[in-house]
Amino acid sequence: MSRNHLLLYCRPGFESDMAGEIQDKAAVAGIYGYVKTKKDSGYVVYITQEPDGAWKLMGNLRFDDLVFARQWCAAVPMLENISQTDRVSAILEALNEHDFPCCGDVVLETADTNEAKELSGFCKKFVNPLRQSLRKADKLTSKPNEKISRLHCFFLDSTNVYVGITDTRNSSPWSGGILRLKFPKAAPSRSTLKLEEAFHTFIPADDRDTRLAPGMKSVDLGAAPGGWTWQLVNRSMMVIAVDNGPMQQELLDTAQVDHREEDAFTFQPPKQVDWMVCDIVDKPSRSAELMARWLVNGWCRETIFNLKLPMKQRWQAVQSALQMVEDICAGQGVQVELRCKQLFHDREEVTVHGISV
Ligand SMILES: C[S@@+](CC[C@H](N)C(=O)[O-])C[C@H]1O[C@@H](n2cnc3c(N)ncnc32)[C@H](O)[C@@H]1O
Repeated sequence: MSRNHLLLYCRPGFESDMAGEIQDKAAVAGIYGYVKTKKDSGYVVYITQEPDGAWKLMGNLRFDDLVFARQWCAAVPMLENISQTDRVSAILEALNEHDFPCCGDVVLETADTNEAKELSGFCKKFVNPLRQSLRKADKLTSKPNEKISRLHCFFLDSTNVYVGITDTRNSSPWSGGILRLKFPKAAPSRSTLKLEEAFHTFIPADDRDTRLAPGMKSVDLGAAPGGWTWQLVNRSMMVIAVDNGPMQQELLDTAQVDHREEDAFTFQPPKQVDWMVCDIVDKPSRSAELMARWLVNGWCRETIFNLKLPMKQRWQAVQSALQMVEDICAGQGVQVELRCKQLFHDREEVTVHGISV
C-alpha cells in the first residue's frame, strides 16, 4: 500500500471545497483515486490507486498552488486503535513496514477543531520520547541533507493517527499549517491579521524589505476602520484609504493616511502605486473584475485582495473568479501571476495576490 493517502489539513467546514480542489488537480496530474471527508473535521484524505500515489502527487503539484490546504503529507493508511501504553512501537512498525526514509524533523499535530485541540497537551508530552526512539531507529537525524523531509504524526485522538511525510521545500513551514500572529493592540480591527498573514504567505522573507519598503505608495479599498491600512502605515508607507466609513483617528493623525470618502469601484489613483489592497465585501466576480482593472491599467504593481465566499460551491466560485482575472488581463495583453490561499485568519473567504509579469 505504502504512502497512498494524501492527507490535507484545511479550515473546518471547508472539507468539500478541499476535496473538490484536490480531485480536480489530481485528475489533471493523472493520479487517480477517491476522497474521504468528514464534515467539520478539518482534514481531507485523497486515497490514490497507485501504491505510492500520494507522494507522487505531491511531487506533481506545488503546495503554494493549493487554495484550501493549510498543510499536506503523504501518509500510510491510518494506524487504528494503537496501544495507549506503547504508541512508539506502532509508529516505528509503520515506518519500517512502509520503508520511510530517515527524516530531518518530526511534528505531532491535530486538526484545528476544539475536540482535536484537546490533544495538544498529549502531543507536547509525547514528542520527546518519540524523537528519542526515532533517533535510535535511524528514522530521525540532524544531518543537513536529510532536512528536506519531515515526518508528520496527525492524531485524530490518542489512539488513531496518520503517519506521513512531506518535502519541506513544498509544504507549509508552520505547525499544522497555521501561522499564529499576535494581534497588534494599536490596530483598529482584527482583520489586520489577514493582511499581515498575506504578506508572510505571498512575499518571500528575503523580498519583504524591497517589496514592502518604507515610503512606498499604496491604496486600501474598503479601508475602514483601518486594520489593513494600519499594516501599511506600520511599514512606513503612504496610504490612500478609500471608504465612506470612518477611519481610526490615530491612523489619520500619522499624516501617512489620505482618507477619501469615495466609491472604491470608480476610484482611480492619481499615479501608479506600489500596492493596492482590498477587503470589500462583494460578489467574487465583482471583486475579480476590480482587481483585473487595476492590473490591466497598471494602477498598482502588486495587489492583495479578499474574495468573500458566502455561497455553497466555494471552490467553483474561486476558480471562476481567478479565471476571470486571467481572461480579462490576457485579453488586454497583460500577463499576471496569481496566487490564492485560504489563510488561517480568513473565515468565509480566501486571499489573492496578483502581480503583472
Ligand atoms: C470588511 S470591511 C474592511 C475592514 C478593513 N480591511 C479593516 O481591516 O479594518 C469592508 C469595508 O468596505 C467598505 N465598502 C464597501 N463597499 C464599498 C465601496 N463601494 N467603496 C468603498 N468602500 C466600500 C465598507 O464601508 C467597509 O468599511
